[in-house]
Formats: sequence, C-alpha cells, structure tokens
Amino acid sequence: MKANLVLLPGDGIGPEIVSEAQRVLEKVAELFGHEFSFSSQLIGGISIDKTGDPLPQETIDACKASDAILLGAVGGPKWDDPSAKTRPEAGLLKIRKELGLFANLRPIKLFDQLVDSSPLKREIIEGTDILFFRELTGGIYFGESGRSGSGQDETAFQSMAYSVGEVERIVRMAAKAAQQRDNRLTSVDKANVLEPSRLWRQTAARVMAEEFPDVQYDVVLVDAMAMHLINRPRDFDVVVTGNLFGDILTDEASMLPGSLGMLPSASLGSDGPGLYEPIHGSAPDIAGQELANPLATILAAAMLLRHSLSLLDEANAIETAVASVLADGLRTKDIARGGEHIGTQAMGAAVVERLKK
Ligand code: NAD
Ligand code: IPM
Ligand code: MN
Repeated sequence: MKANLVLLPGDGIGPEIVSEAQRVLEKVAELFGHEFSFSSQLIGGISIDKTGDPLPQETIDACKASDAILLGAVGGPKWDDPSAKTRPEAGLLKIRKELGLFANLRPIKLFDQLVDSSPLKREIIEGTDILFFRELTGGIYFGESGRSGSGQDETAFQSMAYSVGEVERIVRMAAKAAQQRDNRLTSVDKANVLEPSRLWRQTAARVMAEEFPDVQYDVVLVDAMAMHLINRPRDFDVVVTGNLFGDILTDEASMLPGSLGMLPSASLGSDGPGLYEPIHGSAPDIAGQELANPLATILAAAMLLRHSLSLLDEANAIETAVASVLADGLRTKDIARGGEHIGTQAMGAAVVERLKK
C-alpha cells in the first residue's frame, strides 16, 4: 500500500517522539512491503516563530491532502504570555476543527508488564481496559468568549454549548465501538448543574434507547467519575463525554497504566484523514534530555495504521513489539519509577528491533 503521511512534530518533546514513531513506521513499511511517504509540516509555537501563525494554510492543505496525520505536541513556556495575540494551542484546536475531527478515541489499556509501574494497587487496576470517546470539536473549547470591564470588574467568559447533532454523532460512534467490545457504554456529564449536559443526557438516552437497545447503558456525573476511575476502573468499558471533561478524565486515567507517556489517541471525523497523537503535551520540563517516553506516539502510529489505513496486522505488530520491550524490562524514566531507565531514542530503537511480520 502507498500512503501519504503528514508529520506535525510541534514543540518541546514533539520532534523527539515523532521521529521515533517515524522510525517505527518506516520499519513497518519495510517488513510488510508498503510505501509510506512522510512530509513534515509546521504547527504550534515553532510555527508562530517561523510564520507568525500556529497553523499556516500550507499545513492545513497538506493535512487535507494526506491519508493520515501524526502529531507530537504543541505549546511551551515561550508562548505562554496570556496577552499574546495567538497561542500554539490555537493551532491544534483549529486543525481538529478544520478536519472535522469530532471524536477523540483515548484507549486506557494496561500493559500487564507495567502493572507495578502504576501508582495504584495491582488488585484495583489489573485488567483495566477503557475506551474513552471525547467529543473534540464542540463544547466550551469552541464557545463564545470574551472580556469586558476593567480593574476589579474586569470579567472573562467562555460559554459551553452542545447541539443535538453533535451529541448524536459522538454517542453513536461510541455505542458502535461498545458493540465491538464488552457492549457497555457510560456517558459522563454534569447534568445536575449545566444546561448543555442536560441536553447531552436527554439526547444520549434517546439515541441509546432507539438505536442501541442491546448496549448496557448508564450515566455518571463527572465529579463522581473522577473518583470511580481510581476506585473501580475495571467497571468501565466505553465512556463517552464532552470535550473538557474528556480532556481532564483521560489525563487522570493515564495514571492507571502508569504514565501519561503511554497513552495514544485517534481523532476521527465522518470522513477524511484522521489525526493521531499522544494524549500528553510538549513536556517542556524534559524536552531535549532524552527523557521523553516515545511509546504513546508509537502506539498512536499503530492506531493510525488500524483506523486510517486498515492495516490491522501492522498495527498489532507495533503493539506486540511494545509489549515485548516492556516484558524485557526496558523503561523510560517515567515508567521506571526510580529503577533503571533508557533514553527516548533507545526506546524507539528497541521497538524497531522487536518488530516482526
Ligand atoms: P504535559 O503533558 O506536557 O506534561 C505533564 C507532565 O507529564 C510533565 O511532568 C511531563 O514531563 C510529563 N510527560 C508528558 N509526556 C511525557 C512523556 N512522553 N514521557 C515522559 N514524561 C512525560 O502537560 P503540561 O506540562 O501541563 O503542558 C505543557 C505544554 O503542553 C502546555 O503548553 C500545554 O498547553 C501543552 N499541551 C499540548 C498537548 C497537545 O499538543 N496535544 C496536550 C497537553 C498539553
Ligand atoms: C490535549 C491537550 C489539548 C486539549 C490542548 C493543548 C489544546 O490538552 O490534546 O489533550 O485540551 O485538547
Ligand atoms: Mn489534554
């Protein structure tokens, strides 16, 4: 197969982890006889520095013309001035919107080999396998915002809105995924307080009753969900929630497998290329020090092969190679928990070495 892949390395550890994932994809192409072409494009802070824009038109055009996109991360202290005209993160929000990537899939799957790297007890987390569907192009992230007044009265606001159509499409996608898994779906909202959550809850209940009566369905309030995730993570199969709640809950959930550096994600729309990225950020505190764990990005590359290119054996091969690296006791610092660790490039090379057809 020929595939045209766009790389968006971005800022901080972004370039380090994307180049390891690229090496893995190149090895997959060699082993399985595919032709992947890579084009690197600008996004985020580095793009602001070079062009004044966190998402130049050239990047949008290249992404639209691609088969799939692999992103590192954007942002960092250099671009954090709250009064700046634009921010790196605006580039990421815009590419998600431009490509209509309304569904962000975040699998929280425990590698058996890492159970003891988690800060949580083995008996609580063993066997955890949750698939989050985070709504990605609506909600408070894209609500009307602004400021008014001055001094003590200066006020800022950002509104949260969801339409029936936006809720329907993400709930449908999550329910279909549940049917392929353990047939259970949990919708998370804050319907006791927020109006958009009440619309979300009504719409989700209707879609589930009308279209997915076979799927076991329940609803949980987001504050309680934050607790349940730590207390009884195995009780959840597929979870669907809004943009902000999904952002927060999945960073929390990253502690189940032991590190933010282990969690990949896929952002999908109804058609067109998907965008794949780790769920973590640009980790400026460890950038350039060979400390970044590239496995989240490497696992995101596996999701890319599976969801955008339908290369299931190839995706499985990457995941098996990652499991084998972990079984051999190789750890980057974040998952070593004080034990021996190897660097970013050594971890990428270890995955490449273990890749098998
Ligand atoms: P972060 O996810 O970058 O880092 C949080 C902590 O996790 C840090 O201690 C970091 O060192 C560690 N960490 C993250 N990824 C790691 C990896 N692969 N290996 C080892 N350790 C890792 O979150 P933050 O520090 O709150 O944000 C930093 C910047 O990243 C901000 O500008 C933020 O806006 C941006 N950000 C971008 C994305 C994205 O591009 N998708 C996601 C989240 C945050
Ligand atoms: C993520 C990040 C982004 C988000 C930021 C950087 C815009 O935290 O991908 O989880 O909040 O969606
Ligand atoms: Mn986040």
